[in-house]
Amino acid sequence: MTHVDGVPGKRFPEGFLWAAATAAYQVEGAAAEDGKGPSVWDVFAHESGRTFRGSNGDVAADHYHRFREDVALMAEIGLTGYRFSVAWSRVLPEGRGQPNEAGLRFYDELIDALLAAGITPILTIYHWDLPQALQDAYGGWESRAVIADFDAYCRLLYSRYGDRVRHWVSLNEQNYFVGLGYERGAHPPGVTEPARMQAANHHASLANATAIASFRDLVPGGLIGPSFAYTPVYPATPAAEDVLAAEEAEEHLSHWWMDVYAWGRYPETTWRYLADRGAAPPVHPGDLDVLAAGTPDFMGVNYYQTYTVTSNPPDGLDGQRMNTSGEKGAGWEVGVAGRFRTVTNPHAEYTDWDWTIDPTGLRIALRRIAGRYGLPVLVSENGLGAFDEVDVDARTGERSVHDEVRIGYLGDHLRACGEAIADGVDLLGFCVWSAIDVLSWLNGYQKRYGLIHVERDESTGETGDRAPLTRTIKDSGRWYGRVIASAGAELGAVTRPAGTDG
Ligand code: BG6
Repeated sequence: MTHVDGVPGKRFPEGFLWAAATAAYQVEGAAAEDGKGPSVWDVFAHESGRTFRGSNGDVAADHYHRFREDVALMAEIGLTGYRFSVAWSRVLPEGRGQPNEAGLRFYDELIDALLAAGITPILTIYHWDLPQALQDAYGGWESRAVIADFDAYCRLLYSRYGDRVRHWVSLNEQNYFVGLGYERGAHPPGVTEPARMQAANHHASLANATAIASFRDLVPGGLIGPSFAYTPVYPATPAAEDVLAAEEAEEHLSHWWMDVYAWGRYPETTWRYLADRGAAPPVHPGDLDVLAAGTPDFMGVNYYQTYTVTSNPPDGLDGQRMNTSGEKGAGWEVGVAGRFRTVTNPHAEYTDWDWTIDPTGLRIALRRIAGRYGLPVLVSENGLGAFDEVDVDARTGERSVHDEVRIGYLGDHLRACGEAIADGVDLLGFCVWSAIDVLSWLNGYQKRYGLIHVERDESTGETGDRAPLTRTIKDSGRWYGRVIASAGAELGAVTRPAGTDG
């Protein structure tokens, strides 16, 4: 083990949100209870071959029924913030029209329980679970009709919860739900057409900006921003063509969204690249004004890894290959023909799912975003997906999870946050992904991120008798509690396995 120098606690400002996150479909379960309508994920995950061994969110961690126990465990850890998402079809079963009072009441009770425990609620409006009724009615994000329906849904939430919730996240990882949903075909609705992806994406951007503009009237003094999956890009070598490939990737994968959020305009070279292929976004007169009128208070950043890229010929890799098995080395590749493709970073460690482990990449991410957009930043997700083992004491039956690797991972990333704050980044908080073990969309229940372990059958989407869903705070949860209690000073005592410097 190597000793890691600590970050002076004073670098984390007063009021810093020491938080953890989940998302409705991944944690709640109760997929069809108390009037909830189906979402696109409820349907998609039940289609053959879509997810790892057919895993789904029917039961998930059963947070819907056990939220009081979960909030008590979060309080025991000492979290000062909890980021959760509202399931749109739980509060509006048809996606629009008549609200479902039982669904609205669930989030009332969750919010009230959090506040009573001294935990700041961070409410995500949309974490990928579009009501299936809207998909059926007009193709979901592919229709402009979704903009008004999303705004009405947001207004419902603002009016209902705006008196108690100050921190709001609008769209979670727009780049992933449209990219995987409409270009790569791996998420619902399983489409593989770049032009349709750009249409869905443009409508999502318009919906995001419209809802942010509505927020100003209904939640005065509140803060709202998207959570963007930012993957900072490095060139494979100092060769000019690799540096150019890295710039292309940075624009294609990130500025394409974040420039729209912050400035209301699309970057030019990627626009031309897409226009040449018949896939430019369908921008109507007035759209750019809508985008510019709905800019965020902060940029939420979901940070997991960095990419290293090289140039890619016009007939080169065009697509994404993901490791969803957890067999290290199965591969993870992203390429855009004629622009860039990823290569292995020889200086980084990788997770079992072949994601780069790169804490300094987080410092780079925060500096790039703060420098480019001049906005405060919230780390809306960061965490390690890993196989966890439960030890059961033969005498007492007491359970424990010794996840030192996760402690090392989170410690290094939090230290990077402290360094970014010292660099001048206005960082609002840090949300560990995830507060408790949840469904990993395409990777089932064996890829665990939680601070709290949930005993669950990992092999399928079923629960049954073998999955009592018992909760156990992992060593990482206890450790995070000490970090929080010391306002970051505990990071000075973090150790991590040798060779994971990133
Ligand atoms: C983000 C999502 O993409 O990363 C989460 O916002 C997700 O919902 C997390 O679970 C980790 O990804 P994965 O695929 O490993 O579960």
